[in-house]
Amino acid sequence: MTEPALVASGLTRRFGGLVANDNVSITLEHGRVHALLGPNGAGKSTLINLLSGDLAPSAGSIRLGTREIAGLGAAQRSRLGLGRSYQKTNIFGSFTVHENCRLAAQARRQRPWRIFANAIADRATNDIADAALETTGLRSQHARLAATLSHGEQRQLEIAMVLATGARVLLLDEPLAGMGAQESARMVELLRRLAPAHAILLVEHDMDAVFAVADEITVMVEGRVLETGSPESIRASAAVREAYLGTEAEN
Ligand SMILES: Nc1ncnc2c1ncn2[C@@H]1O[C@H](COP(=O)(O)OP(=O)(O)O)[C@@H](O)[C@H]1O
Ligand SMILES: [Mg+2]
Repeated sequence: MTEPALVASGLTRRFGGLVANDNVSITLEHGRVHALLGPNGAGKSTLINLLSGDLAPSAGSIRLGTREIAGLGAAQRSRLGLGRSYQKTNIFGSFTVHENCRLAAQARRQRPWRIFANAIADRATNDIADAALETTGLRSQHARLAATLSHGEQRQLEIAMVLATGARVLLLDEPLAGMGAQESARMVELLRRLAPAHAILLVEHDMDAVFAVADEITVMVEGRVLETGSPESIRASAAVREAYLGTEAEN
């Protein structure tokens, strides 16, 4: 057995008196999509922020491969192959699609002082950006200003930017939010394509999408993990049904 891509244990994060994550443990495996479900305020985004380094945990550990990363900042974690997207779209609207990806690619090359001087001439960075756009189906849109993309394309661009950083572990916070049916289907298809070469943590409310793409599911309620298991076991769980899925799924 290969070791997990990421193992978080006992993560706790308090905001004043509120415990947004309470002793949360989760394991992400290479080649698998792990969906994270839970009602609004359950602590899903907080968990992603703790894993990505955007927030420091009050307690707990995070291993990326064999390395403990809980004490590292977000930029260091990114360079180690941990990538994330945000619940709210986070792109540079006045830059082209390709420029957005190139800047993301540049971030992994650890020569930030060269971004503006040499980015255009930098073949490797261009190639990485091209590959990320190809993978996400945005290559034909490369010259457009990011602000002019449709909402669905902007979310695809965000994924392309995460890929351009070289991330192998992807933390995706509601990548289907606000999408129409066709855009959602395209994103689900993209996630399926990314899964073999990545470990993916997917926060998503769309149950059809979750059950279409997830290999494993964790359900959070009020800052705690209620249950982790296969899609079948989560679907069959009385506790999950009661806490989250609603009783209409009964029988
Ligand atoms: N930066 C913050 N400061 C204070 N409270 C926060 C902060 N971020 C999240 N919270 C609170 O933590 C809880 C979990 O939030 P969040 O992780 O965003 O939930 P979810 O993503 O599952 O909807 C909520 O009660 C939220 O109000
Ligand atoms: Mg959230």
